[in-house]
Parts: sequence; C-alpha cells; structure tokens
Amino acid sequence: MKARLRLGVPWHLVTLMLLSLPSINFNVCHGQTDDYESPAAPPPGLDECNGIFLTYSFTSREKEYPKVKNASAQAWAFKSLATITNTGEHELKGWQMFVGFQHKEVLVSASGAIVVDGDDFPVAVGNGTIFAGNPQVDLKTAIETAGDFTQIAAQIEIAGSVFGIKPPGVPMPKNIKLVNDGYKCPKSTLRGNNPHVLMV
Ligand SMILES: *[C@@H]1O[C@H](CO)[C@@H](O)[C@H](O)[C@H]1NC(C)=O
Ligand SMILES: *[C@@H]1O[C@H](CO)[C@@H](O)[C@H](O)[C@H]1NC(C)=O
Repeated sequence: MKARLRLGVPWHLVTLMLLSLPSINFNVCHGQTDDYESPAAPPPGLDECNGIFLTYSFTSREKEYPKVKNASAQAWAFKSLATITNTGEHELKGWQMFVGFQHKEVLVSASGAIVVDGDDFPVAVGNGTIFAGNPQVDLKTAIETAGDFTQIAAQIEIAGSVFGIKPPGVPMPKNIKLVNDGYKCPKSTLRGNNPHVLMV
C-alpha cells in the first residue's frame, strides 16, 4: 500500500488531544515551556507522515554508580518517552517504531512495548532498536473511535542506562522512524530549538 494517506485530523485538534493526554510530559528535565501551549504551526513532518505521528522525548537522568573521572565512560540512569499516534484514516496494524539509540544505551524497562528481537531486560540497544506495541498492538483511527487517545496512540515509557553525555548535553537517538510498510515519512527532526524532543 503505497498510496499517500491524507491527514484526517486538523492539527489544532491533534494539539488539543495531545494536550489532554495526561502523561505526555515533554520538558521535565529542563523545565522549559513546550510549544504545544502556543502551536504556531504544525511541526514539520506531521502532515507528511501519511498520518502517523512519532515522538521521542528525553525526560530525565541521574548519574549512577560507578562514578568515574572519565566523563565519556560515566553511566547515567535515564528516562524517556516515545509516542506513536495514528492521525490518519487507516488503522495501523502491528505498529513498530525504530529508535536509533547511539550512546551504548542499556534498557531496563519499556512499558507499553516490547523490544523486537530483544531478550529479557536488561537489553543493550546502542545500535538502535525496534519497539512493538504491548498490549496495544494496533492503533485505530480517530474516526472509528471518536478520537479516543487510548486506542489511537501508544506510549513507551523507557528507562535505562546511557553513557557519556553529561548535562547540558542530551543523549538523544540519531533518529526515530516507523518500521511498518506503506508509509513514507520525512527524516525525524528535533523540535525547534528544543534539543530533547525528536519527532517524525
Ligand atoms: C574514557 O572512556 C572512553 C569510553 O569508555 C574510552 O574510550 C576512553 O579511552 C577513556 N579515556 C581515558 C583517558 O581513559
Ligand atoms: C553494534 O554494532 C557493532 C558493529 O556491528 C557491534 O560490534 C556491537 O556489538 C553492536 N552493539 C550492540 C549493543 O548491539
């Protein structure tokens, strides 16, 4: 299915829905105000992604043991949140999202998803990994659920360890993308001047 799907939900509605999703919290780490509060324009990519909207946001970190002098060998416990939202006209069956981790990340938990091809936690994902929904395998459309976010979106709450990047640097993945066939997405972009939200 290569046909381009038209975005069925106007952006201001998506914004409202995102705002009303209680556990989305983009900026805990730096305490900045998120653009969602005054969305001047849709983020680049939203209406080019054939109706699937992906985000990855870094939430927090704390230095963990062992504490070492060599900054690039220091481990940090981190938390982040990835989301996938079906804003299109068609149900997305068996969603899979790639997150291009690149800082020797070791995941210890990922609620809302499983690591495809991963063994039990902890799992080393420093070359990137694919998440699939668990228990929410499919994402329905807003149209067939009257915009019920619990059915059109999934969230992956990620916890793990990451190496090297100390504040104010933010250990972001290289990229995020939808793995499912039939969708064409632009490259993921950092959100405006905010270094800890990546979206497609
Ligand atoms: C610091 O740690 C990095 C990553 O483990 C390592 O490649 C590098 O050789 C270390 N540098 C020193 C001076 O030990
Ligand atoms: C990442 O890829 C490199 C090169 O293929 C490999 O040596 C390394 O073990 C991989 N790391 C992980 C965590 O899979």
